Amino acid sequence: MAINTSIWRKKPISAYHADGAKSDLKRVLTRWGLTSLGIGAIIGGGIFTLTGIAANEFAGPALALAFVIAGVGCLFASLCYAEFASVLPVEGSAYAYAYGTVGEFFAWFIGWNLILEYMMGATTVAVSWSGYFGKLLHMFNLHLPLYLSMDMHSANAALEKAASTPNGMVELATHYSSLDLPGFAFNLPAFLIPWLVTAILVKGIQEAASTNNVIVILKVAVVLFVIIAGAFYVDTDNWVPFIPERVFDANGEGHYGWSGVVTAATIVFFAYIGFDAVSTQAGEAINPKKDVPFAIIASLVICTILYILVSLVLTGMVKYDQLDLRAPVASAFEGVGFTWATYLIVIAATAGLTSVMLVMMLGQTRIFLGMAKDGLLPFSIFGKIHPVFKTPYRSTILVGLVVSIVAATTPINTVSEMCSMGTLLAFAMVCGAVWILRVKEPNLERPYKTPMLPVVATLGIGFNLFLMTQVRIHTWYAFAIWGSIGILVYFLYSRKASNLNRLDQ
Ligand code: ALA
Repeated sequence: MAINTSIWRKKPISAYHADGAKSDLKRVLTRWGLTSLGIGAIIGGGIFTLTGIAANEFAGPALALAFVIAGVGCLFASLCYAEFASVLPVEGSAYAYAYGTVGEFFAWFIGWNLILEYMMGATTVAVSWSGYFGKLLHMFNLHLPLYLSMDMHSANAALEKAASTPNGMVELATHYSSLDLPGFAFNLPAFLIPWLVTAILVKGIQEAASTNNVIVILKVAVVLFVIIAGAFYVDTDNWVPFIPERVFDANGEGHYGWSGVVTAATIVFFAYIGFDAVSTQAGEAINPKKDVPFAIIASLVICTILYILVSLVLTGMVKYDQLDLRAPVASAFEGVGFTWATYLIVIAATAGLTSVMLVMMLGQTRIFLGMAKDGLLPFSIFGKIHPVFKTPYRSTILVGLVVSIVAATTPINTVSEMCSMGTLLAFAMVCGAVWILRVKEPNLERPYKTPMLPVVATLGIGFNLFLMTQVRIHTWYAFAIWGSIGILVYFLYSRKASNLNRLDQ
């Protein structure tokens, strides 16, 4: 009997088949059903909220270019994801693919980065949700105090910005019942919404899945509405200059110019995250080998086109430096006096953001479940299934706890950048892994093959790593700490606890 203890040991393909045989998931999803899930996970905080910061502070009207740059990077990754998904159409996304093909440590590290993608993704969306929820309250003349609407850093920044613009304080006061900061600030809506999603996920996702479809239709309809109705309010003068001149703020941070466009691309990259969530649903697909790759690419391409058009409309409707930071799309329509459209957008965005959070938190618990089943995470926490609801309730509650606390206390760009960092590295690793697999196992059955793989994979790795270098330095520090903890956990716990230690190879 030989036990392989190498950090490059792989999960045997037979073990995936055994996992699949034990699964009682129903195969009901068609290719367009999967595509709809992808779009449901993609359209959210990125387009409804981060466009404000990206255009206002970094790209100006060239926001659309930032979307093109980020979209191209994602396209390379999606082509590689698609091949991976066709070779191993199992749940667990890139983590599971890498475990069966490249090896345990690589898979672990992808899984560790996917935690940033899914958990920090859900957190970013929770903060974004809070912005739109505040807007909804405002429409009904209800207001929270500033200290219950934002984290401390953002509240101070909002006060500073208002104080430096004429009439700024008066304008800010119309949004909150009080502008006092009693020594703390806490984003209460962002804290509460993850608990609502947690409750739904603990109870089961049957209802959630059908609700998701309705929300996707609403979301896409509203995005189309924004493009078509907004086009009538575009003032092409607002696009000039398309790339505003480069300036530096008091902290020496650069804005605008080409480098600002690239920074904006790292911010709006977040808007594309989610196409890979399709791959967590492979267990429910009727024809996963062909349909999962199709849905990954189709959902990304559809969203890229929608995003570019929304960016052009948004920056055409409102001068880039006047764009609202918390709810820019709704505010743009409010600004031109299109009141009922504002209601529609706010309601659709609030519902749409909830569905993104649902898919992200669900994806996270599935990845944890996969890792726990493989022995890489403690099963009692991450694998334990509720006796009545049949869901991994402990890990769901843990995810809800982390998401709610971070969302209530952290500025949105900090969490979204952490999410993007983790995702960019995971994407680069996927591009590399697909290539390695082609070279090492050229004869594997591949229902979908990435075209021109060496070129696409090289560009995918290059693009994603390049975007990582553009992220602010303190995000890098946090990311380095996160990565180091991951490596420690692997060597101190996961490697020893891995099920492969009990498998004769
Ligand atoms: N792409 C998703 C969003 O923008 C994560 O909310």
